[in-house]
Amino acid sequence: MEFVTYETEGAVGIITINRPKALNALNSQVLDDLNAALDAVNLEEIRALILTGAGEKSFVAGADIGEMSNLTKAEGEAFGKKGNDIFRRIETFPIPVIAAINGFALGGGCEISMSCDIRLCSENAMFGQPEVGLGITPGFGGTQRLARIVGPGYAKEMIYGARNIKAEEAYRIGLVNHVYPLEELMPAAKKMAAGIAKNAPIAVRNCKKAINEGMQVDMDQAIVIEEKLFGDCFETHDQKEGMSAFLEKRKEKTFLNK
Ligand code: CAA
Repeated sequence: MEFVTYETEGAVGIITINRPKALNALNSQVLDDLNAALDAVNLEEIRALILTGAGEKSFVAGADIGEMSNLTKAEGEAFGKKGNDIFRRIETFPIPVIAAINGFALGGGCEISMSCDIRLCSENAMFGQPEVGLGITPGFGGTQRLARIVGPGYAKEMIYGARNIKAEEAYRIGLVNHVYPLEELMPAAKKMAAGIAKNAPIAVRNCKKAINEGMQVDMDQAIVIEEKLFGDCFETHDQKEGMSAFLEKRKEKTFLNK
């Protein structure tokens, strides 16, 4: 992988987009490398992922404008699909993905963060969908996910006006969960990931599936999705372990992902 690194710390995997000369902008190679990084995640062992950008200035400054500048309509659509496919893969990845946003999250950068389950950012982070200033729409899910996360009114204000917002405003409108000084961002992301990783993995995965799939349908269908995923946890080792630990007033629990 030329532009993406993947490392593990215990049960937590860390994917870093590493193209700092271009502020980690997403060209086709970065997108392919992201796919390869996800392929490398051992789902038997890894229980949560962190996605971040290399350097202290930028998470991801968007899709690569140089690469996009001469695309035909058909090539533009195909590039959008390439980004959308990988972002959808992140969104539906079996384990939770935390975006640790360490600077610019513009265009495709804001979009990739929105395909993650949880967004944490540093005080120097900046979010936005500046695409209309470049003569295009957001193309890696921005028109869809921003409206779903912050509501259509705010999403339309940001997208139509190509208005970038700072960390504090992103926090206020619910685009990020927490804001940290830059040096505290990765420790906080790792702490959150480790906190997720210590819980029963099948249950955590089923929660992700239930929330994501339930959000797409009406409540009558959504609660059926929940019922099935709830039922699916029973008879697992980890359900028996979690409940017997409670009943035996035992603090130590060993979840085996089975
Ligand atoms: N694509 C390609 N290269 C990029 C880039 C991008 N999105 N963003 C930054 N870079 C490159 C710059 O061209 C520059 O390269 P050179 O040193 O070779 O000239 C390098 O990164 C550093 O950038 P700047 O000198 O511009 O740094 P700055 O601190 O002055 O400004 C910035 C930082 C405000 C983020 C500015 O770089 C910027 O506005 N970048 C573009 C942001 C943007 O418009 N993103 C949306 C892209 S479109 C998109 O993402 C479509 C989609 O939905 C799929």
